[in-house]
Amino acid sequence: MEENVGKTIAVAGKGGVGKTLISALLVNHLVRRNNGAVLAVDADPSTNLHLALGVDIDFDELETVGGIREETLVDVQGGGNLAGMSKPDYFDMRVQQAIWEEDDFDLLAMGRPEGPGCYCAANNMLRVSLDRLSGVYRYVVIDNEAGLEHLSRRTTRDVDVLLIVSDASMRSILAAGGVSRLIDDLHTKVEEQYLIVNRVPVDESGQPDLPQLLRKAIEEQGLNLAGVIPMDPIVAEFDALGKPVGDIPADSATRQAFDKIVASIPSLN
Ligand SMILES: Nc1ncnc2c1ncn2[C@@H]1O[C@H](COP(=O)(O)OP(=O)(O)OP(=O)(O)O)[C@@H](O)[C@H]1O
Ligand SMILES: [Mg+2]
Repeated sequence: MEENVGKTIAVAGKGGVGKTLISALLVNHLVRRNNGAVLAVDADPSTNLHLALGVDIDFDELETVGGIREETLVDVQGGGNLAGMSKPDYFDMRVQQAIWEEDDFDLLAMGRPEGPGCYCAANNMLRVSLDRLSGVYRYVVIDNEAGLEHLSRRTTRDVDVLLIVSDASMRSILAAGGVSRLIDDLHTKVEEQYLIVNRVPVDESGQPDLPQLLRKAIEEQGLNLAGVIPMDPIVAEFDALGKPVGDIPADSATRQAFDKIVASIPSLN
């Protein structure tokens, strides 16, 4: 019998490679499959996953973990009694309240750093809260900020599936290799990791064509290529018009490619 434990899937990679696109595609895919509750976590301080997911809320209205942490500090320093709770319990309660509920998934936003040193602390508290929440949700999908800082600070909780996203450039593939090695060096518990190469130029027949040189580099970096997503004008158009990723048609090259990638990852099925 399958164990009924939640899976945490984290999406990482260099800036602008398509992490938010892929996080949103995954959330929508899991929702469509209707295989259990889904929590989308926007761990990027610039907070934009909600737009990709079509969550109809102003940025200002969205309560963030960073904001809660700041308020908790103020409450403590102001002599507030935190409703008689310990700081972690109080924080946890506030995080629960900050979870934005859509009909078919929930969303939690990390928010901006609120002064020096605070971001790290907020991340740590988020990790503790996520550990608790992962018992509640079947899937937790984390859209990370670009770069490696949050990984090297060990602020990312243990993950079941790490999706490293790259674009079709040597620099980005090398950066993806860096993410992968860092994870190994830190002994962060990542059960499985996969590379997705996004925005791959298409050939005359419309098929994404990953240059041999990049394939070789992927191999040399020891990356586990799950698949590629083509450069797709529909994605750019949806983004430009602020339309949610979930409305990208099922027969589009992007959705087709993404569905194939998910199908190839056993623990997502
Ligand atoms: N397959 C694709 N085809 C065309 N455009 C794409 C594709 N994937 C992503 N883009 C475009 O590239 C840009 C970056 O995508 P996205 O925001 O998902 O990247 P990101 O890695 O989350 O960026 P950041 O590091 O800023 O968070 C967006 O404008 C998006 O529309
Ligand atoms: Mg992003």
